[in-house]
Amino acid sequence: MTVADPEARTRLRHPFHVDADGVNRPPGPDKHPNYGRFAATGSGVVPVVRQVNGESVPALLICRYADVREVLRRQDVFSRSAARAADPVDVTGTMLGMDGAEHARVRGTVKDLFTRPAVAGLRDRIEAEAAAQLATLRGRDGRADLLRDFAIPFTLHVVCDLLGLPQQDRAQFRRWGDMFLADSDMTRDEATRAAEEMGGYLWGQIERRRGCPAGDLLTRIAETAADQPMDVQIKLPISLVVGGWETAASSIATFLFVLRTRPYQGYASGWEYLLDHPGKLDSAITELERLHSTANADDMPRRVLADVELPSGARLTAGDVVIPSHDAANRDPRVFPDPERADFDRDPNPHLSFGYGPHYCVGAHLGALEVRTAIGLLLRELPGLRLAVPADEVRWKAGHAILGPEELPIEW
Ligand code: HEM
Repeated sequence: MTVADPEARTRLRHPFHVDADGVNRPPGPDKHPNYGRFAATGSGVVPVVRQVNGESVPALLICRYADVREVLRRQDVFSRSAARAADPVDVTGTMLGMDGAEHARVRGTVKDLFTRPAVAGLRDRIEAEAAAQLATLRGRDGRADLLRDFAIPFTLHVVCDLLGLPQQDRAQFRRWGDMFLADSDMTRDEATRAAEEMGGYLWGQIERRRGCPAGDLLTRIAETAADQPMDVQIKLPISLVVGGWETAASSIATFLFVLRTRPYQGYASGWEYLLDHPGKLDSAITELERLHSTANADDMPRRVLADVELPSGARLTAGDVVIPSHDAANRDPRVFPDPERADFDRDPNPHLSFGYGPHYCVGAHLGALEVRTAIGLLLRELPGLRLAVPADEVRWKAGHAILGPEELPIEW
């Protein structure tokens, strides 16, 4: 970017909710006001600094919608693999960290299993999994943790169904996943061990399918990715679990929190509005995805490979690290009028919460269907559902990758 820009002289710490110890602690479901401010005013290219493995990494936060889309679209200029040193999360060997032909090859192994029609074919199965978890919730005598007792097992079973994991192994699979996804008390060594054990287990499952196809996603990997390194074959299902389990579960809990605690159009809450307007569920959730995305895609920086000009006219130099911010882009008033206002009738609503371009969330249709199925079912079957604690007592996850409440006590 041009050095004449006054913002270049001071670098803000990023993420904006980061504390002195380097941990990101969003206080609730709302994004930091800086995102909306930088999307609307100034150059839209903001110098920031992040702590990555104890090092200060300077980067440029890209905030305008058209610029963010350009960065996400042009894999030839904006590289994920060359930004590895700036990655707060280690995604080496997964499609999230690859570019070009390598990325296309790995993604191509599974992408047709996630198209809109393919996901529509899973609808009955997804509804059955949601109904099964609702039965568990009902067994809790009118009070439960929405995450532990519904959203986490529901989204876990959906991803396990897809992979083709046997029922009897799922409890162990959940323990591993809980260890490296959700449990912030564990040490790095324990998290690594859990990931290795899960990897070893998945490798066994893939090997078993080589001579004995089972018509599931692991069979697909066994059949079409056999020529790829073992590490890549194992990390493919792991990236689907990591990318698809907690993001969807956290979205269910976050959106429910917002619906239950905020008034909407003369109703005491968005929940009550939806009880009266069930036809608005789909567009309401699209709007909640825009405002309260749970995947911190700000954690996926890119490195600029050649000098380039963005649609806004901002110039970037080869070697710059850029962070295309979907949270800022989702608040660009050039695309979303009155961006901070929740509008369940917003149309069009081309938010970037599932990314854009070659790395566009491979599980977007699946995740969207899971969240709509879960919230639709809860509205129909437990219309009296509400928080069991005051809203300001809900604790929100600290960390970088996936945002949302730590637990969500509910009653009905
Ligand atoms: C429901 C909430 C979800 C949200 C908000 C979400 C968000 C995202 C975002 C923003 C990206 C792009 C990252 C980038 O630009 O580098 C992404 C990629 C990805 N997501 Fe999702 N996701 C969700 C659900 C899922 C599900 C259900 C799955 C799979 C079962 C999944 C698997 C993936 C994978 C594998 C990628 C990497 C794609 C690539 O690099 O080509 N996600 N997701």
